[in-house]
Amino acid sequence: MSLRVVNIGELVTNDPSMGDGTLGLLHDAALVVEDGRVAWVGPSSRCPDADENLDAAGAAVIPGFVESHSHLVFAGERAAEFEARMTGQPYAAGGIRTTIAATRAASDLALATNVTRLLGEYRRAGTTTVECKSGYGQTVHDELRSVSIARCHADDATLLAAHVPPPEYAGRADDYVRMVVDEMIPACAPHAAWIDAFCERGAFSAEQTRAVLEAGRAAGLGVRVHANQLTPGDGVRIGVDLDAASVDHCCHLTDADVDALAQSTTVATLLPAADFSTRNAYPDARRLLDAGVTVALGADCNPGTSYTTSMPFVIALAVQALRMSPAEALWSATLGGARALRRTDVGHLSHGARADLVLLDAPSYLHLAYRPGVPLVARVLKA
Ligand code: NIG
Ligand code: FE
Repeated sequence: MSLRVVNIGELVTNDPSMGDGTLGLLHDAALVVEDGRVAWVGPSSRCPDADENLDAAGAAVIPGFVESHSHLVFAGERAAEFEARMTGQPYAAGGIRTTIAATRAASDLALATNVTRLLGEYRRAGTTTVECKSGYGQTVHDELRSVSIARCHADDATLLAAHVPPPEYAGRADDYVRMVVDEMIPACAPHAAWIDAFCERGAFSAEQTRAVLEAGRAAGLGVRVHANQLTPGDGVRIGVDLDAASVDHCCHLTDADVDALAQSTTVATLLPAADFSTRNAYPDARRLLDAGVTVALGADCNPGTSYTTSMPFVIALAVQALRMSPAEALWSATLGGARALRRTDVGHLSHGARADLVLLDAPSYLHLAYRPGVPLVARVLKA
């Protein structure tokens, strides 16, 4: 089964060997998909035949967005907490416990339905690869069902074993971490690809974070970490030490953190929609990029800090609030996300890549940031 897409006004391949600049831009291009993979890319006038034909009519085509950070397995919502925040209350990690209570009380079907609803939103806005975390269960039983649901519906499942100490462990975070290491990780690791922890005041200390991540790594999981989101701390250093694929948020970094990232293969994943929705400090993307750090962008969909699934919104925000160029922002939301998940099959449109294509209702990817809030994603093809 093959498909050809012709008359692409501007094609973003993210392969500099195929076209101009880092984005590997081609004009008047065409692309052939065979068995879900990119089989041919070149000038529209020389495109070989295929079983089916799609005329892009001069529109731009980009790789599907790669979301490397989401929390979709939850029940309920927290609009009242959002309202309180927008009228003066600061964000505190404790709000996570509201969602833990709702999630524990929800059926598997209700949780799975919520995940598929949000994955549908992601897809309609152009995202074709989604990592999904557990983290609103915080018991062996509830993390096991959360991570199983994530694995069933999303592309990559992450065990966020240490999100916040749950109420029954109030004041006993060390006991909680011991339970995570001795019971939760052995039970859940076979169903996940990644281990994650929230290293933050009010969540888990440096020592507790390291214990959880090391136990996850010993159980065969890749490492990612919520680091330096609300305050400066040791999260980034621990992540780099443990060869994390990604350290996420990165809003409060020291020079030593930036240097450590620059000398590592760890990606800094920036989640500006969370900073937008909490009115907290944005990360300094320019400082990271100028130091040579690989930067990814994610939407961080969750009911507390970032209830959005729109990567186009994140791109527009990254260009304005993080002062990234439109090209940097698009790269970070596609190939950057793939790097943060250590995947080579998505985020680009080189030969052999998974054929994840987004047709825009616009002549150029520039319109994603130039026309903020406008639904420009016209068509999404996954594989
Ligand atoms: O990525 N930082 C911790 N976890 C989420 C927030 C979760 C919540 O508030 O429910 C985040 O921002
Ligand atoms: Fe998060």
